Amino acid sequence: MEIKVVTGDIVKTKADAIVIPFFKDNEQLSGDIANIDQALDGAITQLNKRGEIKGKLNEITIIHCLGKLPSERVAVIGLGKKEELTKNKIRGAIAETCRRLRQSNMENIAFIPQGIGLDDIDLEIAAQIMTEGALLGTYTFQKYVTSKEEHSEIKQLLILGRDDSEVVVLEQGYRKGKIIAEAANLARDMVNEPSNNMTPTDMAEMAKKLADTYKLELTILNREQMKDLGMGALLGVAQGSQQPPKFIVLRYSGGDSSEIDVALVGKGITFDSGGISIKPSNGMEEMKSDMTGGATVMAAISAIAQIKPEINVMAIIPATENLPSGTALKPGDILTAMNGKTIEILSTDAEGRLILADAISYARKLGAKSIIDVATLTGACIIALGKVCTGAFGNNQELINKVLASGMEAGELIWQMPMFDEFKELNKSSIADVKNVGGREAGSITAAQFLAEFTDDIPWVHLDIAGTSMTEKERNYQIKGATGVPVRTLINLVLSLAK
Ligand code: BES
Ligand code: MN
Ligand code: ZN
Repeated sequence: MEIKVVTGDIVKTKADAIVIPFFKDNEQLSGDIANIDQALDGAITQLNKRGEIKGKLNEITIIHCLGKLPSERVAVIGLGKKEELTKNKIRGAIAETCRRLRQSNMENIAFIPQGIGLDDIDLEIAAQIMTEGALLGTYTFQKYVTSKEEHSEIKQLLILGRDDSEVVVLEQGYRKGKIIAEAANLARDMVNEPSNNMTPTDMAEMAKKLADTYKLELTILNREQMKDLGMGALLGVAQGSQQPPKFIVLRYSGGDSSEIDVALVGKGITFDSGGISIKPSNGMEEMKSDMTGGATVMAAISAIAQIKPEINVMAIIPATENLPSGTALKPGDILTAMNGKTIEILSTDAEGRLILADAISYARKLGAKSIIDVATLTGACIIALGKVCTGAFGNNQELINKVLASGMEAGELIWQMPMFDEFKELNKSSIADVKNVGGREAGSITAAQFLAEFTDDIPWVHLDIAGTSMTEKERNYQIKGATGVPVRTLINLVLSLAK
């Protein structure tokens, strides 16, 4: 889909469909919408009176113009009650509209960002969220389907400005929205890819591609180099797999100092079978998504490199498979992490915290001033929060608040979980410094407390995305499969830290 911002009058625009908003309890149509209604001999008003157009959120009504307007059709999209409208509802409604129009093979559509209804939304943000809704909502992952799609693609989406000065502002919002949505879709692509084509080596190759395209500094450590650095926890997980592990580091330097302002650490388990503590086979295929954290931080830093804020960011992705074999890690084994702490293994399926232990230690050793880690870490987080929101854990309320606000801005829901010291005791081992499982209770918190053993006092937030990385349903701008969460949150966060 090509999105273009142009000067134009929606009433005079020739397209397969022009899209206009409609609110619930709408008293009086005005401006362009009133003009369109008039051209259609009052069709919108009539349909509203008869109860066919109610203005309910995501209600889509297609009216054929039959020559009364240059456009073939008018698509009226319901946005609900005006006072209850949010940016995320707009993203969702635009997404639903684009999919509906695509289903009917409409290839050229036009939108007006004015009058989208939020008085406090300026035109720049309106163009940004419309672009995000359109690009996120029409995402597909069909590369392995050899039969043809039943519908064509939307070729062109016009965002109309009334004059040149509006176009300049809209263009800015569109550019930002495109970078952000494409980053989320990149993460979706990587996560939807099956694990046979998204091995640690494949992730490293993707990192190379992104580094070349967006001028990021790239370091990839192999097994030997990890050994030299003492990454015993990561290597313990990797020792059961035939695939060589990769420790991927991408660096964006937009600040004037040489310090790393923020390190984004992402779990990169390209397949989690559980290892010797093997998972039940039912649903195991979902564990190709256990590298979502890694994909997320790679996508986020690529977007940041395009937006170019004044800040230094590092993305760190420890990547390996977690498989059982004759050489695999075993319950009862003890590993030594990069920071010297020893870990008693109770379950080889609690592998995420092991690879993150070394990645966080690495970030600390390089002197990162703050750390955000993103991981599909625990099934317990899904039990606690469902698939509705990501769990946030941390040691610095100011940073946590910034993460929560960034998530809210993106429409990616996040809920803070408690980190009382009492939880820490559950990870105590009698024969090592810590054990990698804290028991059945409070499983997502003890996992976070395990990570805290490696962060020390550096401001740190851990995001457990076990429940939010994938979705079963197509809804709003979410498509079945990988969600791209929390790429947009991370981008917003870095931009807010740069301010
Ligand atoms: N990758 C899983 C967590 C997960 C489960 C993510 C379901 C997405 C959906 C993680 O490595 C894992 O297996 N965690 C164990 C920890 C347990 C052994 C302490 C879990 O949650 O069961
Ligand atoms: Mn696991
Ligand atoms: Zn895992």
